Amino acid sequence: MEVRKVGVVGLGTMGAGIAQVCVQAGVETVGREVSQDLAERARERITHYLGRGVEKGRMTPAERDAALTRLTTTTELADLAGCDLVVEAVVEELDAKREWNRRGDSSRCGTRASWAARADAASSPTARRALPGHVRRGT
Ligand SMILES: NC(=O)c1ccc[n+]([C@@H]2O[C@H](COP(=O)([O-])OP(=O)(O)OC[C@H]3O[C@@H](n4cnc5c(N)ncnc54)[C@H](O)[C@@H]3O)[C@@H](O)[C@H]2O)c1
Repeated sequence: MEVRKVGVVGLGTMGAGIAQVCVQAGVETVGREVSQDLAERARERITHYLGRGVEKGRMTPAERDAALTRLTTTTELADLAGCDLVVEAVVEELDAKREWNRRGDSSRCGTRASWAARADAASSPTARRALPGHVRRGT
């Protein structure tokens, strides 16, 4: 399956890193945060790390700027509609994981999306029960 657009739910340490790698790879990426303030902070963090890439000669300023144009942030899950892949990277709390994987399961964020979970807890039987059947599990 060709992945042209990725959604990331949770732009903390892991989610921001995933979003950064996606936009660097040329993939349009939508990051969902719990508030505009956190979304803005995540964008700043991603901008900072892309800037480090420029300083180290791993990308040009133009490539950094192009990568940033591929990143949008939102507080609405509905804005992830049209994503080919959605990665859940919310806080490592079972209730939050359950809630977000339930929402991902019921809406699928649009008809085409695959839903992937990023969780240390996915290796535990309890946490696995919080994940919908079609979720790809990672550790
Ligand atoms: N950080 C790592 O090195 C690492 C490594 C492997 C796996 N993981 C996994 O990735 C996931 C995220 O970890 P992290 O380190 O990025 O955490 P983090 O605390 O940095 O970020 C958590 C994110 O979840 C969001 N969030 C908090 N409560 C929420 C809620 N109720 N609903 C929706 N979103 C909520 C926060 O706004 C934030 O964006 C965890 O499952 C963790 O186990 C992290």
